[in-house]
Amino acid sequence: RHTMIKDQQGRGLTDLRISLTDRCNLRCTYCMPKEVFGADYVFLRKNEWLRFSELDELVAAFVQLGVRKIRLTGGEPLLRPGLAKYIHGLKHIHKVEDIAMTTNGLRLAERVGELKEAGLDRVTVSLDALDPEIAGKMNGRGVAPRAVLAGIAAAQHEGFQVKVNMVVERGVNDGEILPMARYFKQRGISLRFIEFMDVGNHNGWKMERVVSGREILETIQREFPVEPVDISSSQEVAKRYRYRDGSAEFGLITSVTQPFCGGCTRARISADGKLYTCLFASTGLDLKQIMRAPNYDKAQLYDQLAGHWGARKDRYSEQRTQGIQSKDKVEMSYIGG
Ligand code: GTP
Ligand code: 5AD
Ligand code: SF4
Ligand code: SF4
Repeated sequence: RHTMIKDQQGRGLTDLRISLTDRCNLRCTYCMPKEVFGADYVFLRKNEWLRFSELDELVAAFVQLGVRKIRLTGGEPLLRPGLAKYIHGLKHIHKVEDIAMTTNGLRLAERVGELKEAGLDRVTVSLDALDPEIAGKMNGRGVAPRAVLAGIAAAQHEGFQVKVNMVVERGVNDGEILPMARYFKQRGISLRFIEFMDVGNHNGWKMERVVSGREILETIQREFPVEPVDISSSQEVAKRYRYRDGSAEFGLITSVTQPFCGGCTRARISADGKLYTCLFASTGLDLKQIMRAPNYDKAQLYDQLAGHWGARKDRYSEQRTQGIQSKDKVEMSYIGG
């Protein structure tokens, strides 16, 4: 029963992404537009969250299915009370090899010490522009990048491997591609350019607003000689490149123009314990309900998860390229990026 499970397309399950809260202290236009996520938006209540002990039990079961990498997301995971202690426990679950976190970096600088000590391995920070006005507009709260840049520097100084995610939207921050590339190249940090995606139901996505990975690459090549990094054997979402002077790598995440569903080995758990097998799904399996049922049998959890993954057929990004677009998708801030 400890064999690697495969879905309907032969894809294993190696990455688990856990959303620790659906709240965030920013309102990025492409994720949580403030017009929708305003004062009267109803977020999950704390008593709806999965408890850390329940998450530990789930992770132990997922590990039996093949999971080795855990990514903590949100909303903004730094807003979840008890985060460092939770990471410490997670680190000690047998066969968990890698724990990463995706954060907006806003309150990161003051937390890096405790996170490192707890055993967090890697940090990914979201930042869309260096220009304060453009950044402030995209994060919906007028927040200048200064604190985020300080968070990135602090994480790097603390010894974390740091990546930066930049969502590129045409007419909004495409002029920031080169300034961002220069800044992070100089600091040896891997910057990943992400094609603007049609996640959720509110971000006004249009194909015209997508800057393709190919265009981004051409922009960078106008200034820097680059070469691809061979990743033929990996299931990474990013197509990796390196600057020929050896200073840094960067990546292109082309989920719109060159989807990567064929190698999608990722499952996501929302803060209230629903299991989603695709970023663009509309429904999830209610694990909290299963675990809190009076007749819950811990020994059956593995079989239920295995059955669910075994039935999986998701390949939304590939279908989108064939013109199929789903409505009623889950919100990105609810299941994490
Ligand atoms: P590591 O390999 O663990 O470093 O993580 P990663 O490369 O998957 O990076 P990360 O989790 O930061 O993903 C970066 C972005 O890629 C996310 O914020 C999403 O925008 C996008 N992304 C990640 N996984 C998927 C996926 O399964 N499908 C789609 N369509 N987009 C994804
Ligand atoms: N398109 C692409 N990436 C997105 N993210 C959130 N919304 C979108 C979107 N519409 C990603 C960002 C952020 C992470 C948390 O989720 O990369 O870094
Ligand atoms: Fe918050 Fe990240 Fe979504 Fe921006 S992308 S609103 S920082 S969860
Ligand atoms: Fe995986 Fe769904 Fe993204 Fe395809 S669209 S890569 S199946 S999460």
